[in-house]
Amino acid sequence: MSLLQLNHISKAYGALTVIDGISLTVAKGEALGIIGPNGAGKTTLFNLIAGNVQSDVGTVNFKDHDITALAPSARCHLGIGRTYQVPHPFGGMTVFENVLVGATFGANHSEREGTNLALDTLDRTGLLPKANRLAGSLPLLDRKRLELARALATQPDMLLLDEIAGGLTEHEVGALIESIQDIRANGTAVIWIEHIVHALLAVVDRLLVINFGKVLTEGQPAEVMASAQVQEIYLGAVA
Ligand SMILES: Nc1ncnc2c1ncn2[C@@H]1O[C@H](COP(=O)(O)OP(=O)(O)OP(=O)(O)O)[C@@H](O)[C@H]1O
Ligand SMILES: [Mg+2]
Repeated sequence: MSLLQLNHISKAYGALTVIDGISLTVAKGEALGIIGPNGAGKTTLFNLIAGNVQSDVGTVNFKDHDITALAPSARCHLGIGRTYQVPHPFGGMTVFENVLVGATFGANHSEREGTNLALDTLDRTGLLPKANRLAGSLPLLDRKRLELARALATQPDMLLLDEIAGGLTEHEVGALIESIQDIRANGTAVIWIEHIVHALLAVVDRLLVINFGKVLTEGQPAEVMASAQVQEIYLGAVA
């Protein structure tokens, strides 16, 4: 069953067309990876799905609702969760309080239900021992985990991850892959933008390549990576 459908969506900033007629379907529980050069439009695509930005043309459907005109909060309530490429936690609040915001406002729970959900989410993301630390004092891996926990606490059916592994050590990337595999195993669909390709390949069912705001190619991950188009345009190799 299809969960998300983008129908010919486009977005321009002035004369610059950033997303140029993208159509895409994501199935319930599917994990889709997205790669593409810097500035290709990947984060803008997430902004269009999550509602931070409105498309100029085309429609966005989620769970058979037309969500094209909905605000980000309404899309969150319908089950779309996201992380940001540049994490922006409430630095003066504790880790627990940050996740509680997602659990109570995002998932529409009472404070008591929200508290339980926040604690459970901290446990799942390995942050429970740091629940009382100030978010602003966390090292990078924990800031990434907090970004993940904040999104997860909204109980999404689809999670958008924007370069969540960037800047981490190999060992830390391994820990993050395990967390994301666990999220998938619980039935949450994942769309993951990442430049660290081996991390993506460990998780995703399908890989999509975006270049100049268009879908360059998509398919089985290993085949997409081996294709001449990707070698040439994404990796910069000379064929
Ligand atoms: N609010 C905005 N106003 C004007 N231009 C924008 C805006 N947001 C993005 N752009 C431009 O759109 C293009 C695509 O940006 P986007 O952030 O979607 O790329 P990206 O694929 O996520 O790149 P990266 O891999 O570096 O994160 C870039 O040229 C960017 O400068
Ligand atoms: Mg980006």
